[in-house]
Amino acid sequence: MPAKKKTVFLCTECGYDSPKWMGKCPSCGAWNTMVEEVVRAAPARASAAPASSGKESRPVPLSGITQDEEERVLTGIGELDRVLGGGIVRGSMVLISGEPGIGKSTLLLQACRSLCQRGPVLYVTGEESLAQIKMRASRLGIDRDDLYILAETDLDNILLQADKLKPDYVVIDSIQTMFSGDMTSAPGSVGQVRECTMRLMQFAKTSGVPVLLVGHINKDGNIAGPKVLEHMVDTVLAFEGERHNSYRMLRASKNRFGSTNEIGLFEMTGDGLIDVPNPSAALLSGRPENASGSCVVATIEGSRPLLSEIQGLVTKSAYGSARRTSAGLDYNRAVLLLAILEKRAGLMLGAFDAYINVVGGLTLDEPAVDLCVMLAIVSSYLDRPIRHDLAVFGEVGLSGELRAVSGASQRVSELARLGFHACILPATNMNGLKAPEGLRLMPVKDIREAIKTCFETEK
Ligand code: TYD
Ligand code: MG
Repeated sequence: MPAKKKTVFLCTECGYDSPKWMGKCPSCGAWNTMVEEVVRAAPARASAAPASSGKESRPVPLSGITQDEEERVLTGIGELDRVLGGGIVRGSMVLISGEPGIGKSTLLLQACRSLCQRGPVLYVTGEESLAQIKMRASRLGIDRDDLYILAETDLDNILLQADKLKPDYVVIDSIQTMFSGDMTSAPGSVGQVRECTMRLMQFAKTSGVPVLLVGHINKDGNIAGPKVLEHMVDTVLAFEGERHNSYRMLRASKNRFGSTNEIGLFEMTGDGLIDVPNPSAALLSGRPENASGSCVVATIEGSRPLLSEIQGLVTKSAYGSARRTSAGLDYNRAVLLLAILEKRAGLMLGAFDAYINVVGGLTLDEPAVDLCVMLAIVSSYLDRPIRHDLAVFGEVGLSGELRAVSGASQRVSELARLGFHACILPATNMNGLKAPEGLRLMPVKDIREAIKTCFETEK
């Protein structure tokens, strides 16, 4: 007999429950916090009796647990496998989020191409028609019998079909379009997203079939829906980049089966997404020569060093208050760095607008980019180009001091590999650091010394 289900509305603040939705919680007075929830009648059991499964779970000593290597399957897309930590783990749930049009459906369809060589794949689409998927698949050159497409949003039917087909992989595009018939609220609402994810997770864990979910993000860049969605899944991959730029960055913000912060770089082409094998070279291509306001930084994204160009533009302010914008960099950090330049290096930026841009549409959130941002701004302010073969890295503190960053040797080797001849870095990073051949290391103590070194060294 199926478990009897009913729904109630629970306040997410205080847990008050009510049979109908209310705008204001009568218990704690919070507005708009009532969320629909399915209550499944639990089988009655005596308090001391074992759990309903009939098996009593007992604590085991850590040393007594046998460790099975988790079974992984490669998706055949190098950069995606890298971000996943070496392929998809059986029974795991992966959430891929990103803005509309960034390429989530394209990436998953491409992944299906090699996944379906190992077993049937069920691709559920709640957003596009079968004809639209077919069109995209032919554009990507995919035509396979073991890739099954289901245009459906009703989760009950999806799970039923999955049960019949017994696929090896399931893709849900997207979780916000799915609904569970047990609930009255609309697809995409907090209650629905949570319920659907929970049921899909049960399916993944009991059947061992990996489930790949597409998740939308809202205007602030957060995954639309409850935060609990991120807690439930095993891996969260965020697709970043600008729609008008061909580079796309896939970043793992959570990964139970690998290291987080690992990134993968793709390029969107007419034939779909392709791996970028040498990201640093790709990101630096098209760098202007002899132009002021451009500086190269050696950052580390995940376990991989990456060179990236940062541009700064300083112009006289036409209006009363100076404007500051930053793209690809935290705005508050950018404003802070400008303030440090003003106070510690004597640059009078108060009457100037300042614009900062990370080239290529990437987002850099590592403190090691501080020095690069500041030197790009100084270069534009002085209207003096920075040597083309010079790159920098280092965190800058509030007193203008340069602070050591991690992975210095990885950064300098990447610079040497790409033919750079000089690198300005924090003096505190020099401990035990060996200069690779052809690269001159120029250690500095503070931002003043960095500016002097940057604009006074000749080739
Ligand atoms: P899509 O995967 O539909 O994005 P999402 O699912 O994240 O909303 O990608 C859509 C964009 O990608 C669309 O603007 C067209 C472009 N695109 C290409 O440039 N080349 C291709 O081969 C494909 C399939 C899409
Ligand atoms: Mg899509």
